[in-house]
Amino acid sequence: MTLKFVVMSDLHLVREGEVSMTLDTAARLEAAVEAVNARYADADFCVLAGDLADLGEAEAYGRLKTIISQLKIPVHITLGNHDDRPVFLEAFGAEYAGETGKVDKVIDLKGYRIIILDSSEPGRVDGVLEAAQIDWLTVRLAEAMDRPVIVILHHNANALHIESDSIRMLEPDAFIAALKTHPDIRQVIAGHVHLTSTAMYRGLPFTTLAGGHYSISFNVDQPGVPFKRLVGPGQMAVVVGTEDRTTVLFEDFIDGNDVIDVAE
Ligand SMILES: [Fe+2]
Repeated sequence: MTLKFVVMSDLHLVREGEVSMTLDTAARLEAAVEAVNARYADADFCVLAGDLADLGEAEAYGRLKTIISQLKIPVHITLGNHDDRPVFLEAFGAEYAGETGKVDKVIDLKGYRIIILDSSEPGRVDGVLEAAQIDWLTVRLAEAMDRPVIVILHHNANALHIESDSIRMLEPDAFIAALKTHPDIRQVIAGHVHLTSTAMYRGLPFTTLAGGHYSISFNVDQPGVPFKRLVGPGQMAVVVGTEDRTTVLFEDFIDGNDVIDVAE
């Protein structure tokens, strides 16, 4: 029994005919959908981890709906700082809001619990998990003490020694404390930073994926040095879970490598 799912993040869709940071983000999402249908059609589901729309526009959510309707696997969604929750819920339906009022969700599948958290907060670029969400998370974890858990949200809780550390999750302590109530947190996966990273932070494993929009060059602990925005890679994560192992693989669906040959 192997759990397999795809995480996409930072789609930054705009209105028809517009680009974001010079990039046709809808075409990039279409490339991602094509890659999933070609190679991961056997996955259990796909999670969109926020920053779905660059400016939170209704038309962008409409385009998102159209493009992801082509996916051959189910889709679960949460929001990021570029999103507009009321506009999203209007486009997708009020049922996307969880009991916390935010776009939170639990999925139980193949021996795992997957918890999706909405860390977006109107008017803020950094991430917020409200007290009600921390309470909700704590209860959802308590229900699943016998299973491994994977958490997915938009904002990274851990600082990465880069410029955007100032806009990560605002106060991660309560989040970390809640996670620490569970004995088997396999991964905490975020987007937001437009950069691939893995870290162990306070005894927990954290990962970020570069996502579908531009990615960034980074300067480790050099906050004054300007970072560059880069065209590639256009990246999704593929998570594979068995009882004893949880693996995160990264699929660069735009700036892939040239093929030398195909191994026999
Ligand atoms: Fe983003």
